[in-house]
Amino acid sequence: MCGIMGYIGKNDAKQVILNGLAKQEYRGYDSAGLALRCGESIKSVKIVGRVSELKKLVEESDLGETAPVSGIGHTRWATHGGVTVTNAHPHESVDGNIVLLHNGIIENAREIRDKLEAEGIVFISDTDTESACQLLARLYRDCGDVLSAMTKLCASITGAFALVILFRDRPGEIWCARRGSPLVVAHSDGASLCASDPTALLDYTHDLFFMEEGEIARLTEDGCGFFGFDGEPREKQSIFLQWDSVMADKGHYEHFMRKEIDEQPDVLRFTIEAHTDITSVDMEKTLKLPPDLMRGISRVQFVACGTSYYAAAVACNLMESLDDTLNVRADVSSEYRYRNIGRGDDTLAIFISQSGETADTLSAARIAKSKGVHCIAITNVRGSTLDREVDNSLLSLAGPEIGVAATKTFTAQVALLSILVLQLLKLRGALSATDEARLIGGLRSIPAKQQAVLSRENDIKALAEKYSDSKGFFFIGRRESVPLTLEGALKLKEIAYLPSEAYAAGEMKHGPIAMLDEKLTVVAIVPQNDLREKMLSNVAECRARNAPIILLATDGDEGIKSFANDVIFAPATEKELFPLLGVVPLQLFAYHVAKTLGRDIDMPRNLAKSVTVE
Ligand code: G6P
Repeated sequence: MCGIMGYIGKNDAKQVILNGLAKQEYRGYDSAGLALRCGESIKSVKIVGRVSELKKLVEESDLGETAPVSGIGHTRWATHGGVTVTNAHPHESVDGNIVLLHNGIIENAREIRDKLEAEGIVFISDTDTESACQLLARLYRDCGDVLSAMTKLCASITGAFALVILFRDRPGEIWCARRGSPLVVAHSDGASLCASDPTALLDYTHDLFFMEEGEIARLTEDGCGFFGFDGEPREKQSIFLQWDSVMADKGHYEHFMRKEIDEQPDVLRFTIEAHTDITSVDMEKTLKLPPDLMRGISRVQFVACGTSYYAAAVACNLMESLDDTLNVRADVSSEYRYRNIGRGDDTLAIFISQSGETADTLSAARIAKSKGVHCIAITNVRGSTLDREVDNSLLSLAGPEIGVAATKTFTAQVALLSILVLQLLKLRGALSATDEARLIGGLRSIPAKQQAVLSRENDIKALAEKYSDSKGFFFIGRRESVPLTLEGALKLKEIAYLPSEAYAAGEMKHGPIAMLDEKLTVVAIVPQNDLREKMLSNVAECRARNAPIILLATDGDEGIKSFANDVIFAPATEKELFPLLGVVPLQLFAYHVAKTLGRDIDMPRNLAKSVTVE
């Protein structure tokens, strides 16, 4: 949540900051602000609204910045304090010496504020951030040394923070600190930069310093210096991020989400080719597990949030269907911590996070590690916190995903997880050569089948337009389709704001069916497999209650048309792999419903792509 950008160098700081904020706007977009150094003083511009509006206001204002040119900017997703200009970042200390912005939540903000107010310091905002700002100003006044004031600040505040700070009397410097919330730093060509998300820095360099937990950084035109929270200097290695900045560009598409839906066949090809050969899994280079480990495992836990959790659920079903000696489950990260997850050698936990920064998933992984559980991570961002904290970390090769609603990262995760499941079972001696060849062959055929679904976009668009006035949607399915119902419903909630629920089809008659009428549309997922007839009975029950029915069915299953008002067809697949294909029409359907309703598809209200608070 919240996007941060900082710059010090010889170029136009405000343009660099505004561009960086625009690239990170998906992280939060209720208000925005920036502060620029203008000679002795630092001037701020803040607005309630989007970065484009901030840009207009900055261009109209005479900020009179002078070299060395530096500045910091922020795009906010409100946690403490309403969405107002006063609560927008950056915040300024009462003595005007500190200008600070923050991503995260300072948990002891109230306590700090009470103490400082008792000393006569007048707060102007309702934010938790201002307490860090005023406290830092007080600490700096007391000791006169930036590093020691920073270390004292970091020792005094609890909770999660990425802080970026300008000191009025230190014109050549930007200071940063990180605990809990992400921050990436870089130096290139006489300039230093920092950002919440690496994609904001790729126009300048691919060599990035990912700040660790408990680190402070000092940025100048000449380079970046790092310190621990104890004030001791730290050597740091940069990480080369291969992503291309055009990958984070919308190209000719109207929305990032639509572009990312189209990228799925390629993403899948990369992923599958990186980890398999024609008939078998090949993760020896990427997965470094002791050879006998899997034979001693009795429990496997897939743990994630949001769309990543539905990818976890797909993997859980696959693993369970292939090995009945394992106890396998999928958990949402925020609940995992309350479970008795087991301890030690017989448990393997797999954490999945597109961003690698989701606070709940990071906490879950830390809990598992502390209990001696074997851990594997899957993230889409090299250098992210999850990637760095879990020794066995695998990258999904989706490239940057900007649309808030996850699409290509879901299919990349499902593909990578499916291959991982096969590899783990093979190491355990629990995968037959027949199943391996059948599923790898099946996986390899998915990209072309996704392409076939994408080529039918106009039919799906027509249905989306026809049903966009529904008062809500029920998605129903069985077994491997249950995670798909959840993901299909989530997409509609996220970007179309329509009530949409997902049910295992057998559950409909235990309550939800009472809600059905002619304005509540049922989307039933009925691939042509052993569950087709059972699904069609459930569909008939819904139809008898006058609900309009859309079916997602298999090419050639013409007979199914008589059960529905409309049918979306997709090619046949191995049943376990159907989620990889079936999700594409559901993504397109949600996209076109949202578009028909005029929603802000890439930046839906109230959401943020990366949720760095618990
Ligand atoms: C947010 C996003 C979702 C995403 C979830 C988990 O809620 O809006 O699209 O699925 O976080 O994110 P992660 O980065 O951990 O996969």
